[in-house]
Amino acid sequence: YLATSYKYELLKKQLDVDKQFEYDHQFLQEETPLHEAEEIYYPPQKLKNQAFIRSIAHYSELYRQSMEEPNKFWKSVAKELHFEKWSDKGLEYNFDHRKGEIFVKFMEGAKTNMAYNCLERNIQKGLGSKIAYIWEGNEPGDQMTITYQELLNQVVKFAEVLRTKGVKKGDVDHSVDSVIMLEHLKRVRKPQGATPPEVKINEKIDSFWHIEMEEASSKNLQASKIEWNDSEDPLFILYTSGSTGTPKGLVHTTTGYMTYAYEAVKTIFDTKSDDVFWCTADIGWITGHTFVVYGPLLNGLTTMILEGLPNYPDGSRVTKLYTAPTAVRSLMACPDEMVTKHSRDSLKIIGVAGEPTNPGAWRWLHRLVGEEKCAIVDTYWQTETGGPMLTPFPGATPTKPGSATNPFFGVDPVLVDDKGDLLRGETEGNLCFARAWPGMARTIWGDHSRFIKTYFSTYPGLYFTGDGARRDHDSYYWVTGRVDDNMNVAGHLLSTSEIESVIVLHPDVVESAVVAVSHPSKGHVPYAFVILRNGKTLTQKLIDEIKQIVREKIGPFAAPYVIHESSGLPKTRSGKITRRILRIIAEGDHKANLGDTSTLLDEAVIEEMWKKRPDFK
Ligand code: WT7
Repeated sequence: YLATSYKYELLKKQLDVDKQFEYDHQFLQEETPLHEAEEIYYPPQKLKNQAFIRSIAHYSELYRQSMEEPNKFWKSVAKELHFEKWSDKGLEYNFDHRKGEIFVKFMEGAKTNMAYNCLERNIQKGLGSKIAYIWEGNEPGDQMTITYQELLNQVVKFAEVLRTKGVKKGDVDHSVDSVIMLEHLKRVRKPQGATPPEVKINEKIDSFWHIEMEEASSKNLQASKIEWNDSEDPLFILYTSGSTGTPKGLVHTTTGYMTYAYEAVKTIFDTKSDDVFWCTADIGWITGHTFVVYGPLLNGLTTMILEGLPNYPDGSRVTKLYTAPTAVRSLMACPDEMVTKHSRDSLKIIGVAGEPTNPGAWRWLHRLVGEEKCAIVDTYWQTETGGPMLTPFPGATPTKPGSATNPFFGVDPVLVDDKGDLLRGETEGNLCFARAWPGMARTIWGDHSRFIKTYFSTYPGLYFTGDGARRDHDSYYWVTGRVDDNMNVAGHLLSTSEIESVIVLHPDVVESAVVAVSHPSKGHVPYAFVILRNGKTLTQKLIDEIKQIVREKIGPFAAPYVIHESSGLPKTRSGKITRRILRIIAEGDHKANLGDTSTLLDEAVIEEMWKKRPDFK
């Protein structure tokens, strides 16, 4: 019994740590070339020379330290930040609910403050007059910049507004009489003379940002009063839409998240003082939190925020760009000149996150956007993880299109089968993490048992991501998507993203989403939604060609049974396709409850999809 239980395997792994390293990370020897027949892109020499992490051997050494002495590793990162009071504690956790409560803590008892680390700490280092944010409106010329010092001044004033309203540390739940109407500074005032958008104002409880801030200004505040927080004080709660059930409010805490976000932005985007960083994420989501707000400010960067479309009018002043594969695919539909007419000389690193990047989109970024001189970093992570878990380093990691490559520092990825048995070597299975990392969410707000049930009960002792992944012969990880999205067709387990990647190989197809749909005689069959390139229509010839590509590249069983043309897909604001809605449409279940659609970017597309649904059953 013991021999097959992963607990035993884990134990063995613990004892055998050196051997395991040798085995899992053979590729880490600089001299060992990666598999030759494969498509591999080596880090651009220019980046390599000045990067924080400049070779695979260097990564390997740092990774080894982070695994063997996690406390030493993470506390030396934390040392670069400001702590009012240090702690002698490190990373403490329990992932096994059979041994007691599930918990994670990092540097408990230390006192610090996130805003202080983002602002005052950098200003003391001389960055006061450096631009923190460049805000661009959708219209060219509609621009605003704010320096680190100006941002601090606003923060100090706003903190005073909150204090005046009686908001105290620990209230993360505001009382009704302290609601503040956040007027969008520029959008409302510009263009000159424009009327602000209609909003319902409740005179008793609502107040205006600019009026409150003016009042605070008149108080002539000298310096900020800093609230020192404990390491494990909650920093923010982010709700993930969740494909079923009510949204989960994931709680991130102060020191662990701060340390992880700082290190991730620094090393994955290899931050330099003259960088202009642009992460296209909405700041209301984890990518925006880590890569627009906290991570860039902690690193003293200049960050661009665009309120508008990423392809309008251009982004040529940016040095490091971070976006979603879905955005890449929609840009690919535009003629090449849209990209080539603008200089991309400044661009050095292009990051992608949020879903598997199909190799076609990857190559488009590399060849056309990056002119083969940029590193492409495909970063795998989740709202729950706080920061990237699998990622290349731009100056060190040879990349393969479609793979998020290797673990970030302190991250211990494992693949298990459905019974929870550990899978070794080249394999495919359920992606889990075998130990804690500082940036992970600590709980689901108000529902710790749901936190345990969702992440720690499927494979006791492991954090389960809900994703499937493949590990190749170089120990590279290829995330195949949510295991719930996998489908079983005629005994073959297929990942929807794999079929989607193949469908978009067809030159007329811009984007595709595949779901499993029940069939009266065949069990389940793949049902493909496709978005076509401008001007193309879905002819029988095109349908046959699409099916043929899938037959050739994967196998006859994977060929979509139905192809459904659409002008768009229902997506969340983080760019994720809401497959539960697609499944309902594919099933033709008009009576089904679409669930919570409040996080969708464009609800109108659902109506259109119903209209265009081919009748196949
Ligand atoms: C899910 C998490 C990027 C973090 C913000 C989104 C999928 C994320 C990748 C990637 C393949 C990816 C996974 C994951 N995912 N990054 N590089 N390759 N899949 O956070 O909304 O919580 O979504 O996004 O399925 O579980 P999220």
